[in-house]
Amino acid sequence: MNEVRLTFDGTDIAAMEGQSLAAALTGAGHRKFRVTAQGKHRGVFCGMGVCQDCLVTVDGTSNRRACMTKAVDGMAVETQPAFPEPGPDTGLPETPRARVLTPDVLVIGGGAGGLSATIAARRAGAEVVTLDERVVEGGQYYKQSADGSLLDAQQAEGAALVESARASGAEIIDDVEIWGAFDGPLVLAEHERAALIVRPRTVIVATGAYERPVIVPGWTLPGVMTTGAAQTLWRSYRTLPGRRVVVCGSGPLNMQVALELANGGAEIALVAEAAASPFRHPLRGAWLSICGPALAWKGLAMLRDLRRRQVPVRNGLRLAAVEQVEGGLSATFRRRDGGTRVAYADALCMNAGFEPQNEILRLLGARMTYDPAAGHLRCDRSETLETSVPGIFAVGDCAGLGGAPAACVEGRIAGRSAAARSGHGDGYDLFADQRALRRHRRFQNALWQLHDVSPVPVGGLPADTILCRCEEVTLGDALAGYAVTPGHLGTLKRATRVGMGRCQGRYCGPATARLIAEHTGEILTDRSFFAPRVPIKPVAINAILAAEKALRGST
Ligand code: FES
Repeated sequence: MNEVRLTFDGTDIAAMEGQSLAAALTGAGHRKFRVTAQGKHRGVFCGMGVCQDCLVTVDGTSNRRACMTKAVDGMAVETQPAFPEPGPDTGLPETPRARVLTPDVLVIGGGAGGLSATIAARRAGAEVVTLDERVVEGGQYYKQSADGSLLDAQQAEGAALVESARASGAEIIDDVEIWGAFDGPLVLAEHERAALIVRPRTVIVATGAYERPVIVPGWTLPGVMTTGAAQTLWRSYRTLPGRRVVVCGSGPLNMQVALELANGGAEIALVAEAAASPFRHPLRGAWLSICGPALAWKGLAMLRDLRRRQVPVRNGLRLAAVEQVEGGLSATFRRRDGGTRVAYADALCMNAGFEPQNEILRLLGARMTYDPAAGHLRCDRSETLETSVPGIFAVGDCAGLGGAPAACVEGRIAGRSAAARSGHGDGYDLFADQRALRRHRRFQNALWQLHDVSPVPVGGLPADTILCRCEEVTLGDALAGYAVTPGHLGTLKRATRVGMGRCQGRYCGPATARLIAEHTGEILTDRSFFAPRVPIKPVAINAILAAEKALRGST
């Protein structure tokens, strides 16, 4: 990779071509990217374009997500102030550009499930368009490196899948921001500052999931990020999130990333797993190894390698608070016996499970059911993975957490089924894939029995804990708002602005729904969460105008 040079707040920085700005700035030791309305700094948090906390000003244009923007030679990057000056009024182009696509099958998402669906639908003879938000396909599981190098078997498997999807004849469009989905189906997006209008015959939604954070005092501090964000920095851009790292929450991703970062040269100060040691549940462990012997062995090998690297893995520790201290962060954990443990680091990674990224499915009217065991919504689907809306299919974690191997099988099933719905059947027998899917699901169920991603009651947190990162609404604000306007999540949103920021409540929404349930004693249902609103992601107004103009012209 070639070296590029850019500036951050006037300081010269060297980066590698293809690196994200987030990686370039983190590699140069910068963690503070934007300033909030209350004067607090924010930095990389999700690493996948969801939280909008990594906003920077690039060459005078504000609101650029550092995690989704490539570093280019000569760029002038600046910390984004709370209220950026409006840029020069260049006016709107006379004829904003719009491109209209009408494929048989539209696949939304270029991860494990989306790419598998793309290949399957093409094999059946359907015309396929696949839209992906990232600049390189592969999704969260197969994260590809910007320089094309392969870190391990997982990345190699992803590279093969990407290659095969590209060779399938589908039109794959990367770096696309989807901002609306409507009956029809009609999907509206922005790509290279132009509007994309897609009117497909069928849609396969494979938008994956985002990570469930551990909401505690200090979870918004620069240097605190999701485990997936740290993994993206390392796997995609070979940039460590910090020299000394703490990883916490629950689930196998935390172990995997701790090992990857340790192998990459980071000092892992602590891996704090909320669940008790898996060796305390021999029957569950045995069942896991029966459900998926290869994956269970991989997990054991990971624990062995962590031990060999002398990474301290401790079970039964829950994060209680994070503070900024001289030289980094101090993380306080609560032990099951009531004691505490403190760890110091310059980066803290958290993952306490996943939340399905289901906004597009919900906008399209797909019926959802609340799954109390997983603590999130699951999309109701038929055997062929069609949702309650004819012609709309859901694949992978966006329909409810199932893991990447299951997403690949689901992609194959949905790809063939969607192609058949648009008249491109190839006599595909679902039987073998459906059997494989049942096996993967059994493994996932067994795996999560060994972890603890049950949400901690929000009401027990200190009142000044930030609940809504974007609007800086604290738990105390939310409770005060609820006292004035008791009722539904929607009323609380209007009273306090919780969930009304740029991330559209993706991080605070589930926690706020739980808070209300804790207060009312009501059981969570599919109606307990924020309704998705268009635009589901921030989008240039020009793209909306272009779409509107093109749609008016076509009616
Ligand atoms: S870190 Fe860039 S949007 Fe979340």
